[in-house]
Amino acid sequence: MLTEKTLEKIEQIQKNYHSKKSAVMGALMAVQRDSGNNLTREDMEAVARILEVNPVEVHAVAGFYTMYNWKKPVGRNHIQVCWNLSCSLLGAEHLISYIEKSLGITVGETTPDSLFTLSTVECLGSCGTAPMMQIGDDYYENLTEEKIDTILADIRARS
Ligand code: FES
Repeated sequence: MLTEKTLEKIEQIQKNYHSKKSAVMGALMAVQRDSGNNLTREDMEAVARILEVNPVEVHAVAGFYTMYNWKKPVGRNHIQVCWNLSCSLLGAEHLISYIEKSLGITVGETTPDSLFTLSTVECLGSCGTAPMMQIGDDYYENLTEEKIDTILADIRARS
């Protein structure tokens, strides 16, 4: 069930568009952010009801974009490492292995404390600062092992 806070956010998002249907992506993201970084089938159905859209269409949007987490629960910090061409040429595979070792998980897995999930993704449009990764809304660029250590330690300290 969506909270009052989430419902207010969806209402605000709707105001940015001429049609309710156009607010689907923003509404799904608002729900995901307020629901511990994950979407459920019930969440998607609630969005469909609020926006008066067929639930199948909402599900199709969530299924098309990789930023929506509904297929499998993800941790509070979803690490998405780009492994496309520029990032790969500058060491993405090595850094992915490094993160796997640091977190004790492999790509696709979540740490036992649900703090991190590690995924690989295609180009995030930041090729000029490769290798890079995204965690939540933030980009971390020109990555090195040392930078990764600092980033993971900062997140752990904030949690
Ligand atoms: S190849 Fe990694 S951001 Fe483009």
